[in-house]
Amino acid sequence: MTATEMNGKELAKKVRTDLAGEVLQLKEKGITPHLTVIIIGDDPASKSYVRGKEKASAEIGMSSDIIALPSSTSEQDLLNQIDDLNRNETVHGILVQLPLPDHINEQQVIESISPEKDVDGFHPVNIGKMVTGNSTFLPCTPYGIITMLKAHDVSMEGKHAVILGRSNIVGKPIGQLLLNENATVTHCHSRTENLTEYTKEADILILAMGRANAIRGEHVKNGAVIVDVGINRLEDGSLTGDADFPSAAAKASKITPVPRGVGPMTITMLLKNTIKAAKGLSA
Ligand code: GUN
Repeated sequence: MTATEMNGKELAKKVRTDLAGEVLQLKEKGITPHLTVIIIGDDPASKSYVRGKEKASAEIGMSSDIIALPSSTSEQDLLNQIDDLNRNETVHGILVQLPLPDHINEQQVIESISPEKDVDGFHPVNIGKMVTGNSTFLPCTPYGIITMLKAHDVSMEGKHAVILGRSNIVGKPIGQLLLNENATVTHCHSRTENLTEYTKEADILILAMGRANAIRGEHVKNGAVIVDVGINRLEDGSLTGDADFPSAAAKASKITPVPRGVGPMTITMLLKNTIKAAKGLSA
């Protein structure tokens, strides 16, 4: 089998056109959806992601600002900033770019963001709502993946979805969302024994472990749908996913490329969540 490509860039463009229409309607009512992004330190990858969020916001008519803080910022100073943003009625969405420096307790920071402004969907209140199947802010990457699978008519019900990676940002929540879609879900991770026994059984294979080109055609079931969340930079500067694209695509029925796959969908879902927050629909 040779896979068709699920191009996230094209789908993101379509979804963003609809979102721009929603922003226009909100502006007519005097509401401009506003996202504030906090970034601490100067990690180049984080800075690039944050710029991408700012650009995408502007493209659909939303407003945004970036609060850039030095890596020496204390946890208390950060919590005070978030407290101000929680109280600021013109700010609808707050995102603190992760990872944070070691001296700052990430969970403490996530829990300090008002759940109504938590457009990342990382607050325990929003995670709890996701697990119980209530509508809320869904974490952006998993939300983007599900949106993409639906747009490509991938049937999830009763299918065996195997997830490689167990981060709070991707691995754990995508398992939950696939379960909500009635898939049978297996979580694999760095301690999983005989990993290929699982990957070969996957109807839907979600790759989120951050290991360049690790999954090859021989690890994949014929006709599987592969979603590659990995973004790995090679020594020559190029980007590659967790799948060895040519051999995996030769076995799969559908596959996401890297770049132009999941990444553009993640930012799109952030915009969608911020618009939802501006509409006051998060509660
Ligand atoms: N770092 C990498 N991915 C993400 C994300 O989705 N949200 C935040 N806040 N930080 C990240």
